[in-house]
Amino acid sequence: MSTSYCLEPPKLHFGEDGVPRSATFDDVYFDKEAGLAETEYVFIQQNNLSERFAALNDGDQFTIAETGFGTGLNFLCTWHHFVENESKGWLHFVSVEKYPLDKMSLQNALAAWPSLSRYAKLLVDNYPTLCQGWHRVNFNEHRVSLTLWLGDAGDGFSGLAASVDAWFLDGFAPSKNPQMWNEQLFQAIGKLSHLGTTCATFTAAGIVRRGLQASGFKMEKVKGFGHKREMLRGTFEQGATTLKNPWFYHQPKRLNASARILVVGSGIAGASTARALVDKGFRVQVWEADTEIASGGSGNIQGMLYPKLQATNTPINRFYLAAFLFAQATFTNLNQSVSGEIWRQCGLLQRAKNSAEAEKFEKMLGSQLYPPEVCFAKQDGEILLPLSGWVAPKLACAKLLDHERIQVHLGNELLQLEQTQQGWEATGTKSPEPQHFDRVVLCTAGAINQHSPVSEWPVKTIRGQVSRLSVEHLDTQQQTTALALDQVLCADGYVSPPLDGHLNFGATYDLTSNEILPTLASHSTNLNKLANLLNIDTENIAPENLTGRVGFRCTVADYAPIVGPVSNPQVLLESYAPLRQNAKWQPTELLNNGILEGLYVNVGHGSRGLVSAPLSAEYLASVISGAPSPLESAVAESIHPNRFAIRQLKRNSAG
Ligand SMILES: Cc1cc2nc3c(=O)[nH]c(=O)nc-3n(C[C@H](O)[C@H](O)[C@H](O)COP(=O)(O)OP(=O)(O)OC[C@H]3O[C@@H](n4cnc5c(N)ncnc54)[C@H](O)[C@@H]3O)c2cc1C
Ligand SMILES: C[S@@+](CC[C@H](N)C(=O)[O-])C[C@H]1O[C@@H](n2cnc3c(N)ncnc32)[C@H](O)[C@@H]1O
Repeated sequence: MSTSYCLEPPKLHFGEDGVPRSATFDDVYFDKEAGLAETEYVFIQQNNLSERFAALNDGDQFTIAETGFGTGLNFLCTWHHFVENESKGWLHFVSVEKYPLDKMSLQNALAAWPSLSRYAKLLVDNYPTLCQGWHRVNFNEHRVSLTLWLGDAGDGFSGLAASVDAWFLDGFAPSKNPQMWNEQLFQAIGKLSHLGTTCATFTAAGIVRRGLQASGFKMEKVKGFGHKREMLRGTFEQGATTLKNPWFYHQPKRLNASARILVVGSGIAGASTARALVDKGFRVQVWEADTEIASGGSGNIQGMLYPKLQATNTPINRFYLAAFLFAQATFTNLNQSVSGEIWRQCGLLQRAKNSAEAEKFEKMLGSQLYPPEVCFAKQDGEILLPLSGWVAPKLACAKLLDHERIQVHLGNELLQLEQTQQGWEATGTKSPEPQHFDRVVLCTAGAINQHSPVSEWPVKTIRGQVSRLSVEHLDTQQQTTALALDQVLCADGYVSPPLDGHLNFGATYDLTSNEILPTLASHSTNLNKLANLLNIDTENIAPENLTGRVGFRCTVADYAPIVGPVSNPQVLLESYAPLRQNAKWQPTELLNNGILEGLYVNVGHGSRGLVSAPLSAEYLASVISGAPSPLESAVAESIHPNRFAIRQLKRNSAG
């Protein structure tokens, strides 16, 4: 896989006819006269999509995967057909693109298709930031999701977790683009297909036919579009292939819209999870122990969107990068229809807090991992994240929970959760009679060990206090500096641009204190941070003039959240015991994972919940509904609840 998240732009030019052409591949993206008709003939008809869309029922997921997203014409055309067929299911369109068009070129290219203009506008408005990785964009109104890998096709599909129903094998012809039609791609296509998966491609090239046959498809040549003599279509005829790392495998049972789902906790993890689930068509009850929503870690007035990007391309770094971009898009959309300000994309300036961090920053910038849309160097080694800014977490939670299919039960602390034949029975302070649920998601941060049927989650809580200061308590010079602050500033602590005449800043890390009320000592600590951040003297500011708030971060030893389906760790340890002898062992058949069917967790967001919670929620909702994962497998494994048991086994092998 590439060692940079930067992408090469396409060598694109528009001819006088307005048709986009690629100089790299010496080919057009589509035919001006017949592009739409060709898509309909080659991909829609040969995969028999109209009938398949019409046959979908409520709760059915239908996944199409494409090689070469290009201008998105195939996607828009498929979307249009899905809507026209009044399909009751959900369409997942997964595509890959190594040389993505920029937004302006995309818009120009799609102007050629007035009949698709309403879909084109939605696509352009929600087009992801051009950075390598998976990007998820939901068009909930039409029950359509786009899962787009920006990068090489083979790399993207090799890391995808999905069950594909139909393939659109586009991409320039094998004679012009032999690099794409390779063994890695064909293998991945086979791995992602199931009995009955269909494929269609405009080409009749032998290398494509043989590659698809070898990966398990029965192929046939049929009449090509227009004057083209032949094209290929096929049906997958093999059974399931063996899985890598099966200890992370989970095949959820089918769920329909009437299922009873409980989300416990109403912080940013719970609110995002509840919203992601209702956006996929479900109904959700949220139980919150407190009498207000988001009164734990997520209750601050302003929080920063700070992904702490690293210089190394690890799965967890890719998680935070993808999560950052997803959170930015989520908060931008949330802001659109609300009066109070939930999100301000003012940028975030990262300044090294000491020489060790300065070295890290230098390494990170030197690595050239990140495109400038994500971060770039400013003067004195500072780093600017232009897509970042501040979030009002409590308002964001309120907005996320404000949906007719979400029922919030305040003051209802989950006391007990028991697995039954049918699902789960939950008892709460306001629900003394056990309530039945088909799925339960625990989003209870540091309280997780108190009520989870698996009770030894490796989490700890760390107290943090933020401080709030009216600018009226500042002298003229301090006021000038504070009021000029127009970006979030982050070094040893952070301060956001003033809001409602106040500066919000912090935060303390108190490893030994459990004090739930703000203390003067913590305010003093925060004032020192403010002095350094703004380069002002804060000696004359009395801590007594500050207000503030205390919260508890839920942290995990490996600094990654815990998100996914829950297994009984004892069963995992027994099933995969051979890993104690050989850490590289892979079983030849599926073993018992001890899955506690229908139970999920979304906790451990540490100091970065605003970044990590929205994508974690989207991932969980995808897993629960059987949709393609928005996370590359290696990334999902790095946040998977089973990682602790598996590491324990492998550690023994190493030792
Ligand atoms: C001082 C401070 C500053 C921070 N600043 C930032 C920042 O700038 N940017 C950032 O990204 N992150 C920041 N964080 C971290 C961020 O706040 C957390 O990562 C995030 O709030 C975690 O969200 P959560 O939903 O997992 O947990 P929480 O918000 O704590 O929510 C858990 C909820 O579960 C409820 N609950 C617990 N047990 C039960 C039960 N048995 N039944 C029902 N309900 C239950 C709790 O009442 C609570 O509402 C900060 C944290 C602190 C403490
Ligand atoms: C003919 S265009 C696809 C047209 C597209 N399906 C549409 O609807 O507009 C082929 C696309 O494949 C992309 N591509 C070529 N090689 C690739 C590779 N190795 N991985 C991913 N995408 C690739 C090209 O950049 C180009 O956008």
